[in-house]
Amino acid sequence: MRVLVAEDDPVIALGLAERLRTLGHEPIGPVNDGEQAVAAAKQSRPEDVNGQAFDDTAARIHSIATVHGLLARGEGPVDAGALLERIAESAPVPVTIDAEPAAFDPCTAQKLGIVANELITNAFQHGAPPIVVQLMGGHETRLQVDDRGNGPAEDAAGLGLQLVRDMVEQGLRGRFGVGALPGGGTRAAVVFPEQAR
Ligand SMILES: Nc1ncnc2c1ncn2[C@@H]1O[C@H](COP(=O)(O)OP(=O)(O)OP(=O)(O)O)[C@@H](O)[C@H]1O
Ligand SMILES: [Mg+2]
Repeated sequence: MRVLVAEDDPVIALGLAERLRTLGHEPIGPVNDGEQAVAAAKQSRPEDVNGQAFDDTAARIHSIATVHGLLARGEGPVDAGALLERIAESAPVPVTIDAEPAAFDPCTAQKLGIVANELITNAFQHGAPPIVVQLMGGHETRLQVDDRGNGPAEDAAGLGLQLVRDMVEQGLRGRFGVGALPGGGTRAAVVFPEQAR
């Protein structure tokens, strides 16, 4: 079996690789961040029906890695507008960001980034343009991702929405909902309290 070694200490990585070889596996890497992991894993992309699932997973890891890379640069609070702009840049269609000034600790910012990425991805994959993302600060933080499409079916369920729901409710202690906009279109809204940590 091919096993990807993700470890930034070269000595430990070498030890792991050797151990894996002894056990009859084929070690790949080592890699030390998400970007490298995706690149290395792409070389092992299966050519059968699992290829699409593989690509979807790679895209998700890539987006988490992007958010992580942005956060890893500084220790202090993360500017929400800059974070959202960065996520929007990786979308294949234009995404308008309209963010009030707000900053979050890196942990909250990471969760917000992952949630925003899933919702923006849904907007361009399943909805219709234009896509507008708004962030309102204050006592509670509100993130809204709007598109002009008809929205998900009542019972729509996938890994993305599940991830969003879990991250919002358990990670941010907030609420998540998707609804129709009065003039047509769909709004996915996340609200979470200031003290979320
Ligand atoms: N903005 C949207 N407009 C229309 N339909 C949507 C929207 N967001 C989600 N949906 C519907 O809800 C379903 C579930 O979304 P979810 O994000 O959970 O899964 P997915 O996008 O299909 O796959 P993935 O797990 O890769 O995100 C989608 O397949 C789609 O049918
Ligand atoms: Mg999705």
